[in-house]
Amino acid sequence: MTANNEPAEMTPNRRGPESVSTSEIDERRSASAAADDGPLGSPRVSSPVIESRDLDVFYGDTQALHGIEMEVPERQVTALIGPSGCGKSTFLRSINRMNDLIDVARVEGDLYFHGKNVYDDDVDPVALRRKIGMVFQKPNPFPKSIYDNVAYGLRVQGKDDGDVDEKVRTALEQAALLDEVEDQLDESGLDLSGGQQQRLCIARAIAPDPEVVLMDEPASALDPVATSKIEDLIDDLAEEYTVVIVTHSMQQAARISDKTAVFLTGGHLVEFDDTEKIFENPESQQVEDYITGKFG
Ligand SMILES: Nc1ncnc2c1ncn2[C@@H]1O[C@H](COP(=O)(O)OP(=O)(O)OP(=O)(O)O)[C@@H](O)[C@H]1O
Ligand SMILES: [Mg+2]
Repeated sequence: MTANNEPAEMTPNRRGPESVSTSEIDERRSASAAADDGPLGSPRVSSPVIESRDLDVFYGDTQALHGIEMEVPERQVTALIGPSGCGKSTFLRSINRMNDLIDVARVEGDLYFHGKNVYDDDVDPVALRRKIGMVFQKPNPFPKSIYDNVAYGLRVQGKDDGDVDEKVRTALEQAALLDEVEDQLDESGLDLSGGQQQRLCIARAIAPDPEVVLMDEPASALDPVATSKIEDLIDDLAEEYTVVIVTHSMQQAARISDKTAVFLTGGHLVEFDDTEKIFENPESQQVEDYITGKFG
């Protein structure tokens, strides 16, 4: 099983009731924050939803990420960009512990969600993934009806409390798909177009009402029209959710994100700042070269 193809929210809950506390604040957080060895830019974000502190990720003996320092602001779109293999997906997966599903992966350092280290022993990764949902590059609806695809997450998570119909409709509406599928909710999700399938996957991810939606190149398999729909949708989603998106398209990052993190070869986060600043006046020469196409 590869983490890339496995929707985390569909993993059966083996660990019992939700145990993610949002109140406990680890003291190491302020200690490591004070170390101030982060990337260039690094704007202080008031009450970040996610904070990465000196985060390293290894696959076996190979280090894929080095000392990542980042603060993800609430209800904004944060884009992760950089050349292939620089660790964007690895970082994204470390936020909701999807790397747990890769045997050889090992995470060191701290990753806080509302001040609680998600790698603490008392955090249930399945509960965490309810709050931090994920959408993958390749649309991966289940071989079930459109309705059941969206309802599945609610049922697995014990939220089948009678108003499933309403929640399914709301999620489809938020995913800008309801108008197109309203009369075919009983038909297979697999019969939709690629762009519709991806919006269905977004509906499935948001149905359980997470706080954060992680997206790993959600539009890269789609045509320009479908891509533009997804981009509009991401813009709308950010009114309610915190969105972290990996994209290979710098134009897309510039269009849709508020903050941009530039990872470069070797798994280093080189610069993190307001998207406008990154694209108009980056601090780092390497980032400037990457943005202008001289590198990467
Ligand atoms: N499951 C895995 N096992 C071993 N090594 C891995 C695994 N996944 C990723 N890596 C390695 O970690 C590094 C970062 O990979 P990652 O997939 O995070 O990069 P990326 O920036 O998302 O690349 P792309 O833009 O091509 O998707 C690469 O060197 C990659 O080979
Ligand atoms: Mg990737």
